[in-house]
Amino acid sequence: MSHDALPQPATARRSESLSGTARVPGDKSISHRSFMFGGLASGETRITGLLEGEDVMRTGAAMRAMGAHMEKRGDEWIIRGTGNGALLQPEAELDFGNAGTGSRLTMGLVGTYDMEVTFIGDASLSKRPMARVLEPLRQMGTQVLRATPGDRMPLTLRGPRQATPISYRVPMASAQVKSAVLLAGLNTPGVTTVIEPVMTRDHTEKMLKGFGANIQVETDEQGVRHIFIEGHGNLTGQVIAVPGDPSSAAFPLVAALIVPGSDVTIENVLMNPTRTGLITTLLEMGARIDIVNPRNAGGEDVADLRVRSSDLKGVSVPAERAPSMIDEYPVLAVAASFAEGETFMHGLEELRVKESDRLAAVANGLKANGVDCTETETALSVRGIPGGKGIGGGAVETHLDHRIAMSFLIMGLASEKPVTVDDKTMIATSFPEFMGLMADLGALISGGDENR
Ligand code: S3P
Repeated sequence: MSHDALPQPATARRSESLSGTARVPGDKSISHRSFMFGGLASGETRITGLLEGEDVMRTGAAMRAMGAHMEKRGDEWIIRGTGNGALLQPEAELDFGNAGTGSRLTMGLVGTYDMEVTFIGDASLSKRPMARVLEPLRQMGTQVLRATPGDRMPLTLRGPRQATPISYRVPMASAQVKSAVLLAGLNTPGVTTVIEPVMTRDHTEKMLKGFGANIQVETDEQGVRHIFIEGHGNLTGQVIAVPGDPSSAAFPLVAALIVPGSDVTIENVLMNPTRTGLITTLLEMGARIDIVNPRNAGGEDVADLRVRSSDLKGVSVPAERAPSMIDEYPVLAVAASFAEGETFMHGLEELRVKESDRLAAVANGLKANGVDCTETETALSVRGIPGGKGIGGGAVETHLDHRIAMSFLIMGLASEKPVTVDDKTMIATSFPEFMGLMADLGALISGGDENR
């Protein structure tokens, strides 16, 4: 298991204006799916711009263990997949480290195979709920041979000889659950249906269509999406250019907004509307973000973002927006800490089951650094201090959560006193270049040099 090494603290200090141009690594969601679908499809898939973070590399290792061939040549990953329906039983357990997306999507992928697969992960992943994926899989015929109480990892699955297609209404806003059922449907006869009352990121639907799956999406009068996937079809290798991850871009973006005098451009950021809730919110708060050169690349909207330091104002973020910015609330809370007035964030129940209980981790980190906030079961409100006077001086517990670590390091760049996080090592799961990229823009973060 990863990260049983000693924690490595890091400290961010008030920095002079940030400036320059940056490129964040490839989108994590698309990178996981590129390895997974490429590893499954017949023929060759070529991927550029892939995020080579620890989470994605574990998905790659899992696909290799089930028969896919993967190698890197220059900047390109070349994958030769097994063909749909032809994954092999892995010889050893699959270790997903910290990765919820990798593990949950893979459970769906293998859950309809007549083979035994064991899933393990680090201390954070072993606490996260897997019942949300196991429940529909059980309906399709998957047996959970062993699991830690509460349907947690380590757990072992065995699929049926022939799976049963189901119609499944996703009970929470979760792209991972939606995707797991769709992937299970790939090795199931007939049509598997997923009903999605609240739209979440649609990378699985878009990419599977690109790989040649017979997948249809209909949206009814209530705005509910019905996704139909036909099993046992052919998937064929694709050429994929992974755009920059908006969830990683969020960190230099908020940094540029709160550090006075900053002017930063972040290039090639994915602008899929299921992922842009943070930008919408920050614009409402008065952020100076110019969306430059919007274009379409490989079926996805991308753009460059020019960001200048701004006087932010508190807003109320509606619960309906949560799925399009679910990973960005920690860093939004940091932006809100420097805004005039109060920012209200609603509909945050899913934050409780991320890499950490992010709602509690954020509220505790804010309080430890002198920011006044109120946490309820599903909401957070933050009362900001423009200029950052009195903010900082606290130590933040990151609970093996990369986004908590990065968010509070961003806070320290604009706060009066330094901000320390107890462990930066998890940043490598999603954004290995974070320390170097921030330093190049002028950020003062110590404990970060060895990552450059
Ligand atoms: C992801 C879905 C989201 C998100 C995660 C990536 C995906 O999780 O938080 O970082 O790639 O499908 P949920 O489905 O649990 O909301």
